Amino acid sequence: MIGFLRSLFARREPVMAEASARDAAAIAPLHAASFRRGWSEQEVEGLLLDRHVIAHRALAGHTLVGFIMSRQVEDEAEILSVAVAGARRGRGLARNLLTLHLRRLAGLGARTVFLEVDEHNKPAIRLYDRAGFREISRRPNYYTSPGTNPAAALVLRRDLG
Ligand SMILES: CC(C)(COP(=O)(O)OP(=O)(O)OC[C@H]1O[C@@H](n2cnc3c(N)ncnc32)[C@H](O)[C@@H]1OP(=O)(O)O)[C@@H](O)C(=O)NCCC(=O)NCCS
Repeated sequence: MIGFLRSLFARREPVMAEASARDAAAIAPLHAASFRRGWSEQEVEGLLLDRHVIAHRALAGHTLVGFIMSRQVEDEAEILSVAVAGARRGRGLARNLLTLHLRRLAGLGARTVFLEVDEHNKPAIRLYDRAGFREISRRPNYYTSPGTNPAAALVLRRDLG
């Protein structure tokens, strides 16, 4: 019975809500699985406790399957990170998280949102492009890792409201 209910929940649309420091233990492993330099649980907790940081998370049952996090100071915000669990990608979850997140940032007074993205990160570039972000500059050789050519960071911007 419990197994049946669990699989029912897992199939349903993830539920999105604002994240708090209590989500740090679940966000850190998803961040670590999604980026070359993962954040520790303490780093994530520190960010979530920062009054300038706004975050949303998506839960499928009790499992965290996505999050997005920004830092906002006055009317400018920067998206610090967004990730969706591997098995859940390609189904519009990041798009839904981003839409909710941008609405919240606008509600908090943000007028401009910036972010940096690896020039080779096609899913992320498509996500941001569809959400109305446009490239404003490029930082060459920004992302480096052993055994691969350095990649540029694209700096993207979207005006809200
Ligand atoms: C980037 C990421 C968050 C996207 O999450 P997602 O839930 O799969 O994204 P969505 O399903 O909402 O798709 C968003 C857009 O990207 C496109 N997309 C998704 N996966 C793609 C892929 N592998 N290649 C090309 N485009 C892709 C989708 O088609 C969609 O565009 P559309 O609206 O025109 O169809 C996810 O791939 C991820 O967690 N990556 C690792 C972490 C990361 O790189 N974060 C971004 C750092 S800036």
